[in-house]
Amino acid sequence: MKGFFITFEGTDGSGKSTQLRLLTQSLNSLGYSVTVTREPGGCRLSEQMRDIVLSAQNSELCPLSELLLYQAARAQHVTQVIRPALERGHIVICDRYTHSTEAYQGCARGLDEELVRSLNAVAAQGVLPDLTVMLLVPPELSFNRKGGADEQDRMEQAGADFHRAVYEGYCRMAQRDDSIFALDTSGLKKQQTASVILKEVLQRLKDSGKAE
Ligand code: TYD
Repeated sequence: MKGFFITFEGTDGSGKSTQLRLLTQSLNSLGYSVTVTREPGGCRLSEQMRDIVLSAQNSELCPLSELLLYQAARAQHVTQVIRPALERGHIVICDRYTHSTEAYQGCARGLDEELVRSLNAVAAQGVLPDLTVMLLVPPELSFNRKGGADEQDRMEQAGADFHRAVYEGYCRMAQRDDSIFALDTSGLKKQQTASVILKEVLQRLKDSGKAE
């Protein structure tokens, strides 16, 4: 595929969304065509699935339904948004993707990790990140930063042990996968983090032969 696919991962409140925005601005000003999107969501139907899976009112949602909803949202999103943008040669930046499912539904929710990985492969349909930027801040710290968990968000309400397991799952993935660029942002200023990420992205674009 012509384009370049970047995913952003991290624990809730790790500064991920801010960094995603800053990277997008930098790449735009360097002349790249960038499509920014998110999971769960990114297109009409997947945003509807997002509302179901994140609403704190749906507390009876069982872990398997949760997993399948994330995957259904992904299949639609890949088909309608991510793959077409990559085929047009865009850099696609997606806020969360398959590593989130491994960390949240596999490591933290405790669903069979093999099952999670195979469903990830089915839903992603071969559209895999060229680079994953993973912002690792211990959850105790990141929740403090954003002033506690969001009461309306079912995932954020899952508790401290859950979010610690997410964090540890991410750390394990970062160790075994070269396409992940992991960064502990706890000691860094926003702009410092942004320039480290931009440098890495430009290097990887160059290595892939897709730099402007
Ligand atoms: P969001 O408000 O976008 O959180 P954040 O700003 O931290 O990215 O909500 C997305 C939530 O969905 C987040 O808690 C992580 C969770 N999630 C999963 O559990 N599995 C998944 O496959 C994905 C994509 C997200």
